[in-house]
Amino acid sequence: MKDLHAVSWLNGKVRLLDQTKLPEELILLEISDYRHIVSSIKNLVVRGAPAIGIAAAFGVVLSVWNADESDRAEFLTRVNTAIDELKGTRPTAKNLFWALEKMRNTLSRNLSRPLRHVKEAMLKEAQAILQDDIDRCRRIGDLGQELLPLRATVLTHCNAGALATGGHGTALGIIRSAIEKGKKIKVFADETRPLLQGARLTTFELLEDDIDVTLITDNTAAFAMKKGLIDIVVVGADRIARNGDVANKVGTYGLSILAKEHKIPFVVAAPLSTFDREIENGDEIPIEERDANEVRFFGSTQAAPEDVPVYNPAFDVTPHNFISAIVTEKGIVRFPNAEKLAALLK
Ligand code: MRU
Repeated sequence: MKDLHAVSWLNGKVRLLDQTKLPEELILLEISDYRHIVSSIKNLVVRGAPAIGIAAAFGVVLSVWNADESDRAEFLTRVNTAIDELKGTRPTAKNLFWALEKMRNTLSRNLSRPLRHVKEAMLKEAQAILQDDIDRCRRIGDLGQELLPLRATVLTHCNAGALATGGHGTALGIIRSAIEKGKKIKVFADETRPLLQGARLTTFELLEDDIDVTLITDNTAAFAMKKGLIDIVVVGADRIARNGDVANKVGTYGLSILAKEHKIPFVVAAPLSTFDREIENGDEIPIEERDANEVRFFGSTQAAPEDVPVYNPAFDVTPHNFISAIVTEKGIVRFPNAEKLAALLK
């Protein structure tokens, strides 16, 4: 993944690697209208909590990039409308709201300056959010790799890799850092129904980096654990409550139960920008429900009667007592609970 970035800024445009087309096609979109960022987040062209936040921050920049620099009221309307629309794209990933808050604060701090400077300050902030996420992922990887034995097979779910972040990844960052340290790491990737982020994206980015990866269907995880094929589970997160309950791609909760039953460590990797300090526990995390056709169809092939009712939550919540450790850029919290996380977030 050295030369592939989920989100980047290039000469007044946002470049997105279209993740709906991977792995068959490698398409880079160049976007100059923030409304196209809005639709790209909704449609999972860009996805993964940190990458969504980064794309949204650049979306805010786009909303004013070509704005009239003499009309302050119009400038403000544009930014506020863009922030509101970007907020409405996906409800679960905390990083989205965190990044938009940072952009709003940057605007407020600079508002008395000429609009040309305000634009520049906003671009600088979005670029800092991107670079900051790369740094955080590196640190998460370097700290978290200590949890992996010298030889290990890691099971991961969905995609919490370079494609989901500024680069390096959170869960996959731990794997990359462990390999850099000379550890012999194999990966089992859950395919991750319904949208196959594991099959399409995790295997793609690991193969790009010559990392040993084996694809399994989601329903194979239990048997793979029973057979002793999995040493540790490492996943990412979309939002973490104050008590350590974790929202992540649907299926994560089931894996945590399986891991407990088989006495396999279950590790969550996430930057502090994923933590929601306002909510006490996982019951309060808003869970996105997506279109029924994502389940009725397997790609473009119909896989169920077209009118069958469907329940399609994009995420589930893993209670903190099923989690062996949460790895952040600030340190590892083992057996997380409200008290330990309060100390970490202080
Ligand atoms: O629906 P997605 O593909 O955006 O879901 C992504 C996940 O669930 C990831 O595990 C999570 O965002 C962490 S990415 C570092």
